[in-house]
Amino acid sequence: MEETHEILLRVEDLSVSFEGKNFVQAVEHVSLEVRAGDRLCIIGETGSGKSILLLAILRLLSPTAKVSGKAFYRDKDLFALTEKQLDAIRGSRISYVPQGSGNGMNPLLKVGFQVAEPMIAHRGMKRKEAESRAVELLKSFRLDREETIAKQYPFTYSGGMRQRALIAMGISAGAEVLFADEPTKGLDETRVKLTAEAFNALEGKTLVCVTHDLGFARSVSSRVSVMYAANQVEAASTEELFRNPLHPYTRDMLAAMPENGLHFRPGYAPAHSDAGTAGCKYALRCDRCSEKCRETPPLFDLGGHQVRCWQYA
Ligand SMILES: Nc1ncnc2c1ncn2[C@@H]1O[C@H](COP(=O)(O)OP(=O)(O)O)[C@@H](O)[C@H]1O
Ligand SMILES: [Mg+2]
Repeated sequence: MEETHEILLRVEDLSVSFEGKNFVQAVEHVSLEVRAGDRLCIIGETGSGKSILLLAILRLLSPTAKVSGKAFYRDKDLFALTEKQLDAIRGSRISYVPQGSGNGMNPLLKVGFQVAEPMIAHRGMKRKEAESRAVELLKSFRLDREETIAKQYPFTYSGGMRQRALIAMGISAGAEVLFADEPTKGLDETRVKLTAEAFNALEGKTLVCVTHDLGFARSVSSRVSVMYAANQVEAASTEELFRNPLHPYTRDMLAAMPENGLHFRPGYAPAHSDAGTAGCKYALRCDRCSEKCRETPPLFDLGGHQVRCWQYA
């Protein structure tokens, strides 16, 4: 397959740990490449390091986090830029919709103004012009009665509406890359569907979306990266990953999807308790585990499908 699209985001060997009273390995040696137009979903259960990964790339972690590795936006080394240079990228080139649908909005400001604000701050638009553009953006997310609801406060919105308004806000400054963290958390099925539609309607955008919702990931992504216990354990195109999952964790996770019968594994414990231990992080839960799994497996590349499991050595 010929790859012609420009690389917008490159993450090399990124690790994050917290060295407080309890040492936590939150992200371990993660590498990613996101090309223009890619829609990457990072999936994995709670505690696997997804949010910390996004925050580390955008340098939004507290100083207590120890970060190593590299992250580039185009040719810019994100970890070497000054705060000021970084501010020129965050928001206007890469926008970020954080976890927690309602929390990303200011409860004291009208929604229309909040969607308009990045256009005023980053693109130098006049308030009036930006607010009418905000109404257009809200329309593209099919929020209904956009002129009226733009004048309302976030609390009058449902969770799903706030989520879509947040995405509109995230892209309003014209960012080419959108980071979204758990955009469907707490939403009912109908609203998950509407959020997926809003994502799929984004034209010319590159998406990096963190989610624990596999169905949603499948409906909005072109590529999927699976995280388990701070590690990337598998990465492939969405079609390939769902048709031919290779890592035992991915297989177990897909088997646990409601449409596949919710076959939860016995002895299930949170993934983060395995982070930082030697060898394959999934070894204790894996029914195909062998002696070899005491050693940490590398990410094997099987023609564009990567998997961190000794079975594929
Ligand atoms: N400020 C922090 N101090 C210590 N540990 C943290 C901190 N923030 C997150 N963690 C830990 O890092 C791991 C990854 O967290 P996170 O990226 O939020 O997971 P996810 O988004 O996949 O649910 C978890 O074990 C979490 O408890
Ligand atoms: Mg998270």
